Amino acid sequence: MLKMTSLRRLVHSRVLLHLSESPGVHSSLPRCARLLSTSSRCRTVMPAWVIDKYGSNEVLRFTKNASFPIINYPNEVIVKVFAAGLSPIDVAMRGGYGAATLSMKRDPLNIKQSGSEFPLVLGRDVSGVIMECGLDVKHFREGDEVWAAIPPWKQGSLAEFVLLSANEVSHKPKCLSHIEAAAIPYVATTAWSALVNTGGLRKDNCANKRILILGGSGGVGTFAVQMVKAWGAHVTVTCSQNAEQFLRGLGADHVVDYTAGPVEEPLSALEKFDLILDNVGGDTESWALKLLKPWSGAKYVTLVTPFMQNTDRLGVADGMMQSAATVASKALKHLMKGVHYRWGFFAPSGCALDEIRDMVDAKQLTDSNGSEQTRKTNMEYRSRWKNSRDVHSPV
Ligand SMILES: NC(=O)c1ccc[n+]([C@@H]2O[C@H](COP(=O)([O-])OP(=O)(O)OC[C@H]3O[C@@H](n4cnc5c(N)ncnc54)[C@H](OP(=O)(O)O)[C@@H]3O)[C@@H](O)[C@H]2O)c1
Repeated sequence: MLKMTSLRRLVHSRVLLHLSESPGVHSSLPRCARLLSTSSRCRTVMPAWVIDKYGSNEVLRFTKNASFPIINYPNEVIVKVFAAGLSPIDVAMRGGYGAATLSMKRDPLNIKQSGSEFPLVLGRDVSGVIMECGLDVKHFREGDEVWAAIPPWKQGSLAEFVLLSANEVSHKPKCLSHIEAAAIPYVATTAWSALVNTGGLRKDNCANKRILILGGSGGVGTFAVQMVKAWGAHVTVTCSQNAEQFLRGLGADHVVDYTAGPVEEPLSALEKFDLILDNVGGDTESWALKLLKPWSGAKYVTLVTPFMQNTDRLGVADGMMQSAATVASKALKHLMKGVHYRWGFFAPSGCALDEIRDMVDAKQLTDSNGSEQTRKTNMEYRSRWKNSRDVHSPV
């Protein structure tokens, strides 16, 4: 059954699939609840949406006979999927994006034949219940309600069950249903990875920092805005004019409309920034690094990198060399001007999701059920956005 979530604006173009008949009933059940009676030990197949080759939506196929996941390592868990989320990267992966890089991650020794990734299951977000734990898993027990962002090189969540490392899983926020929870992990973990791992921000070093988020109204941007705001930073964002109220509702202090003309001019007139998160790419880096405070450790982190395209185009070895050369030369060039240039990437992390969960439960990362005003603004923006943009077709 397909459902578009009420978090439509927050998660932007994500499509949520509710795969369970009985969501949200498990928190009150004992851990040995018979609801989990379907044991992997006596199953070999499960229902899933798969693709058997890259292409457009026509390549998607529903099957009741997808391989049931098997625990191969003692730190793995099998999660029963209650709700799944699709990210833009799933749509890109359906068309073959990152095939070379992701195949290398799946099969580093290149033992399998090309095309061995099929049938491939898409879906980067999951909220569900732990079905089975490997022998070394201490932090989770069968029946725990969890959420996770699934790395693109693993089988996704558009299936009844998904296999993950326990390090990638986290207990889900108590205040969200499974459907709401499945809207968050991939984008929020990407925002966390870019800001914390790459940008060096933490909740105790953000006070009074000036942060610029280019493309603040997208999936990653909306979570980045709320995170740095919760940590005490001053946040400037760029977005289209009709997202302004929405972003102010999420905590943005200053909003610049990119549809009103080049944003370099209004942004150059502002005090310089300690960190820029670029969700837009294109020619932004030709002007954005000038907006950073020089010789003060200020960083520009872009999530729009040519890494995957390089490996897809040139092969794994040459593509990685090309990427390394590009990022190193740019980093050096900008270091000589006193600012840091970095590429950010999604990194799966249960620990990051634990922190994100705590922020969600503390209402620091709000969903559209936050304040009445925010809810109203989000609804208005969502409906305008829906009417004005191409929404990905649900699979
Ligand atoms: N490196 C990684 O591991 C990684 C992981 C995840 C995502 N990403 C990349 O990060 C980027 C953001 O991802 P996302 O999921 O947040 O995408 P998204 O939900 O599609 O959001 C993109 C946003 O960019 C805004 N935008 C478009 N052109 C703009 C411009 N010229 N100036 C300012 N804003 C502009 C749009 O805002 P309006 O609606 O206001 O027009 C839209 O909300 C994507 O390029 C994605 O590929 C990279």
